[in-house]
Amino acid sequence: MALIEKNLQSLTLPTEPNSLYAPKKYIIESGGKRIRPILVLMSCGLCGGDPKDSIPAATAVELLHNFTLIHDDIMDQAESRRGNPAVHMKWNEATAILAGDGMFVQALLQLQHLPSTVDHKRITKVFLDGINTVCEGQALDMDFETRDNVTLDEYLKMISGKTAALLSASMVMGGLCATQDEETLNRLNVIGTSLGLAFQIQDDWLDVVADPDRFGKRKAGDIYEGKKTFLMISALDSCSESNRRKLQDYMKHLPLNDEQVQEVIEIYKNCGVSEKAEEVSRSYYRQAEETLEQFADSSYKEDISNLINYLKNREI
Ligand code: IPE
Ligand code: IPE
Ligand code: MG
Ligand code: MG
Ligand code: MG
Repeated sequence: MALIEKNLQSLTLPTEPNSLYAPKKYIIESGGKRIRPILVLMSCGLCGGDPKDSIPAATAVELLHNFTLIHDDIMDQAESRRGNPAVHMKWNEATAILAGDGMFVQALLQLQHLPSTVDHKRITKVFLDGINTVCEGQALDMDFETRDNVTLDEYLKMISGKTAALLSASMVMGGLCATQDEETLNRLNVIGTSLGLAFQIQDDWLDVVADPDRFGKRKAGDIYEGKKTFLMISALDSCSESNRRKLQDYMKHLPLNDEQVQEVIEIYKNCGVSEKAEEVSRSYYRQAEETLEQFADSSYKEDISNLINYLKNREI
């Protein structure tokens, strides 16, 4: 964590033009759990490398992640992020778009600092493929807003893209800083993907149950926006016919108002979708743990195991 913060702080950002660099500084300094860069460093260690060799990759994924958050908050019309006004609220949308674009480039530039022992071409490909998949997931996420018949498989494809692709890329990039062994890299991909699915399903339910002051995002923001979260899909699947018709009708007139959101939360409670989300999320965390078990024991393996436990119990 200290290594990551030090590197993020040491990025020399010019002060001018302020409208480009101030928002970047603002989002980076607004905190965040730094899960992705931590996964890069730990995966490098897990594969027998020196985590320091993977610092540029770790910095790259965190910059990229912060860029996706800036643009995601525009797309989702979300007003707060990490407990602060979202970048497009503190400044404006045009400024947020450009700051995001700038961070994307800065993320790519980081990869130039990787040691020469690392296969630059391959690690760049993993990163770019990951980003492309994130874009596909984000497109599906938006397309689904106005649909009321999204299947669980379609949902899983969407979150495999918007969330799991970057967690997987983070672990594979960390691994590539230490090894070229395909089986090892495949295992990292499986762990990252499982963690990503678990993490997103959990995030869907935290949207409704977490304390918004700590979670840092608007309570039930997904419901207001008509998002096809794990909760909404499970509810449409298991609630009464009249409730289903009500939910489907709400999707036709987005965004929902406060009263409608309260009703949706009641429907969620009645059909126990939070419990189901927790159960499915835990099963993906378990899958990640089982694949991690296949690695030789090391302090890094323990670190990743501890990180998974932290994630399982997170409330932010
Ligand atoms: C938020 O990710 C976006 C999702 C994929 C749910 P994080 O919860 O990792 O965000 P920060 O970086 O800790 O704020
Ligand atoms: C975010 O998904 C995924 C990316 C930023 C690529 P969400 O839209 O569900 O994340 P939150 O809830 O805003 O953090
Ligand atoms: Mg969002
Ligand atoms: Mg979104
Ligand atoms: Mg969300």
